Order: sequence, then structure tokens, then C-alpha cells
Amino acid sequence: MAPSSTFATLAASTPTLSVGVLTADLLSLGSELALLENAGVAVAHVDVMDGCFCPMMTVGPPFVKALRSRLLKDVHLMIDEPLNKVGDYVAAGADIVTVHVEASRHVHRVLQQLGGMANANDAGRGVVRGVALNPGTPVEAIEAVLDEIELVLVLAVNPGWGGQRFIPSTFDRLARAKEIVGRSGRRVLVGVDGGITRQNVAEVARAGADLIVTGSAVFDGKAAAVNARFMLDAVRAH
Ligand code: DX5
Ligand code: ZN
Repeated sequence: MAPSSTFATLAASTPTLSVGVLTADLLSLGSELALLENAGVAVAHVDVMDGCFCPMMTVGPPFVKALRSRLLKDVHLMIDEPLNKVGDYVAAGADIVTVHVEASRHVHRVLQQLGGMANANDAGRGVVRGVALNPGTPVEAIEAVLDEIELVLVLAVNPGWGGQRFIPSTFDRLARAKEIVGRSGRRVLVGVDGGITRQNVAEVARAGADLIVTGSAVFDGKAAAVNARFMLDAVRAH
């Protein structure tokens, strides 16, 4: 499928901050989303966990559908065998769908399947397809699927929880992913997810991440709007 307008938007405004909404006050989700929008955040990250691929279990398509806002929906699927499940997330309005390379025997087929789907809210916007890598997975795993992705998401923590510590080797892995993408000549964004805080966000931006995912550094239960603006400023000023 041709690159989507969502992809073009992301590619034109890199680096983009994507804020994990599951660390928000879920009983006040509407106002939490409004707070992000007012702070200037453009992308909401949803961590879908199935209790099998990773220890925690979180939310599914109904939650994605319930996110009524102008924010782009960045859906990170940490679920086993997403084949035949990705359609439910696209139908729920996902703008970005990322699957793990470790989670499927047929990751190429999953990505092909996603490539044939239209954005549920605006067919012209398309669906950005991402592939995520756990910290223990060789970065070279992306080489075989470069034709079928628009995003590589390098995890800086092992999937399961927010608030974990950033694994320093992520910087080398980000550089390696960018090198592989650069050598291929393809237009693929490279993102980093997990353990991104006020302290390291600017460094991650300087290292060339196109999408920077942060959760608990924004929704720390105290000053989400101030935190969001801080993280956005750090990303923009890198
Ligand atoms: C890891 C998730 C991340 C994480 C982000 O399992 O994919 O999105 O929860 O949260 P923080 O920023 O708190 O590490
Ligand atoms: Zn995530």
C-alpha cells in the first residue's frame, strides 16, 4: 500500500512524542486525553498486553475505540499470534499498529495483512505498520520485513510494565536499526519505547529516534500537563 498521510505527517514532524495512555487516570480518560491535546501532544500510545506474550494483561479493541480525541492512535500489540487480530484494532480506529517480531510465526504475513487495510476513520490516512523488537532480539530481524513496514519500534525495556529503567544498549540498537533502514533506501521510521524520562528524552531525540514513546514520565499522578510540555519541548529542541 502507498505511504499513508499519517506516515507523511509523522515523517515530516520527526521526532514525534507518543504518550502511553494506560498510565493515565483511566476513570478520567476523556479529560486526560484533552490534557494531552491541549499540551500539544499529537499521538496516544496504547500498550495492548495479553498476559501471554508478556506478563501483564491490559486492554483490547474496545478501549482503542473508546479513545475519542484528535490524537492519532498508536497501538502497540504485545500479544501472541496477532494474525487475524490486527483487523479488530484497525476497525477500532488505530492509525499505527505495531506487532512484535517475536510474537508471530508469520510476522511477514501479519504485516501484509495490515497493508491491505484502510484506516477506519479516514481511508486516505492509511495505517502505519510497525514492527517492534524486544531488547534481546537481534536488530537484523527487521531486514526481512523492511518491504512491509513503515516503523521499527526498538524497545528499551522488556515489555510488561511502565516505569522500568531504560536499557543503555538501546542507543546502539537504535543506531543499528537506522543503519539498516538507511542502507535499504526505504522510508521507515525508527522509534524507541520504554524507560524514557525527563532525564534521557533529549538524548534519545539526539540519537535520531523518529517516534519517542513515554508513559509514566508524563502521567506520574502529579503534573501531567507540565510533564507533557516538558517532554515535548525536550523532543523539539534536541
Ligand atoms: C513496555 C511498554 C511501554 C511502556 C512505556 O511494556 O511497551 O510503552 O509501558 O512506559 P514507560 O515510559 O513508563 O516506560
Ligand atoms: Zn509500548
